[in-house]
Amino acid sequence: MPAAHPVTPFRRVLVAACGSSDVVTLPQSVLAMRFALGLQVRVVLSAAAASFVTAKAFTAVTGEPAYDDGTAEAPGVAHLDLGRWADLVLVMPATANTIGKAAHGIADSLLTTCVLAASAPVVFVPSMNAAMWDRPAVQRNIEQLRADGHGVVPPVGVLALSTGTVTGRGAPPIGEVLQWAATFVGERRDG
Ligand SMILES: Cc1cc2nc3c(=O)[nH]c(=O)nc-3n(C[C@H](O)[C@H](O)[C@H](O)COP(=O)(O)O)c2cc1C
Repeated sequence: MPAAHPVTPFRRVLVAACGSSDVVTLPQSVLAMRFALGLQVRVVLSAAAASFVTAKAFTAVTGEPAYDDGTAEAPGVAHLDLGRWADLVLVMPATANTIGKAAHGIADSLLTTCVLAASAPVVFVPSMNAAMWDRPAVQRNIEQLRADGHGVVPPVGVLALSTGTVTGRGAPPIGEVLQWAATFVGERRDG
């Protein structure tokens, strides 16, 4: 008998992957989203993310085309098509850089254009070292994203790859991220 999938208010998730070193763990999370949770997942990568993990790797784990700035010229208007396709945009891992751009309406790449053009709810999953996370500039940008109606998953302590100590601020386990996003989307729809 096929596994019963938990009910979430979204089925098609566009993961907008940024260039945090945490992106190396993203393929595993995507596999869980696809096979354990039954979600349809597409991935758009920033150039920095694509320098860690290729679009080809995400095509393999999602079974869907993955997009980076190199595929932006493909037929169709990728940022609009992807925005229309998704019923949740999950910016994960979200770098300080992309958070800053999104907070200021900057759309200078396929990923940031998808985020700005999205009609679906957008949820950010920040990932960076604690010093960056604590900077007033980053906190201002986070507040701006919330004020603009976006979700921001509160980061938890994670291993910083550079030191092996828990000085990173990153994503809770993927199930918790999706539970948080489900609650956010439900409250947004009902409120
Ligand atoms: C090895 C390495 C790890 C990095 N990890 C992070 C990180 O965890 N969080 C972050 O905000 N930036 C991190 N950066 C910096 C980003 O890659 C850089 O700001 C980049 O411009 C982000 O681009 P994007 O937001 O378009 O993905 C890292 C850079 C390198 C070289």
